[in-house]
Amino acid sequence: MSTSLDIPALRVLRLLAAAEGPLSGEAAARQLNISRTAVWKQINILRGYGYTITSHGRNGYRLVEVPNAAVPTEVLPRLRTRSFGHAYHYLATTPSTNPVLSGLADRGAPEGTVVIAERQEAGRGRMSRGWFSPPDAGLYFSLLLRPTVDVARVTSLPLVVGLAVADALAPYLPDGEPRVKWPNDIWIGSRKTCGILCELQTQRGGGQYVIAGIGINVNLEVQILPAELREIATSVKMATGRTVQRAELMAALLEHLEQGYDVWQRQGLAPILEQLRERDALLGRTITVEQTGGTVTGTADGINPDGSLRLRLKNGQAESVYSGDAHIRRP
Ligand code: BTN
Repeated sequence: MSTSLDIPALRVLRLLAAAEGPLSGEAAARQLNISRTAVWKQINILRGYGYTITSHGRNGYRLVEVPNAAVPTEVLPRLRTRSFGHAYHYLATTPSTNPVLSGLADRGAPEGTVVIAERQEAGRGRMSRGWFSPPDAGLYFSLLLRPTVDVARVTSLPLVVGLAVADALAPYLPDGEPRVKWPNDIWIGSRKTCGILCELQTQRGGGQYVIAGIGINVNLEVQILPAELREIATSVKMATGRTVQRAELMAALLEHLEQGYDVWQRQGLAPILEQLRERDALLGRTITVEQTGGTVTGTADGINPDGSLRLRLKNGQAESVYSGDAHIRRP
């Protein structure tokens, strides 16, 4: 785990990257004003992040390969945010990033803190579903938000997160993609590439925070998808054939998330309703929304300023739907 923008591993990495030949432990220790043991420790951290670093006896270390991963040493130098991601906790594996971040939040972690995992053993989705989280394939992370707005407004937050994710993914995809599927998903074509799980936690002293859990299928290949997901899931790579640099995407995501969240805190959903309409996966489609109390069917007519979905019913009446799972009905 690491938490500051200029971390020791990054300083060692910069020396390794700049070295013409092998970098001796002694030279690195001298330049960084740390011990050789401390240099060796950072080399091992870098190896744990997936860097290939060869040892050359007394001559030192050589950087051979940089991983395509959202490790702190690749993301932090690319960050252009005011605070989002400045506290950045990277885990090789964990059951789920949401409870890890919740623990940090309870101990006072600042807004914008990120917990990201290369792999989740028990990734959690909405409605007690799971989230398939294999290594080398996606971005699975949780972002801590401490909104100061009325708690009732927090229900519209997943749409703000969704639009930010869509805007960050757009440069990697053909025009018009991806789309935001109310209330919590991102689609490419008619398949899901990202799921969002926002959990509001109320603390004993009356405080509240939101854990925004975001899972994105980035470089996932169809062969590793379980059979039951093959018809409904996709990834950026499956859609385009191209491999995405995950650290670059992660830095862009945090920038879009911070900008979107700032606007939402000040003005709510109103300033982004037009953009949501342009990216709306359901607009004009006949859909059925599954809710705890039953189902409702109608034509999707956009999103209201409070984040609810506007449905035009068969009898011409308008109805607002506040939660549920939306399914497009095939003609
Ligand atoms: C859904 O579509 O049902 C929501 C999926 C949310 C998955 C992300 S991955 C990071 C974070 N940790 C989890 O266990 N879940 C969320």
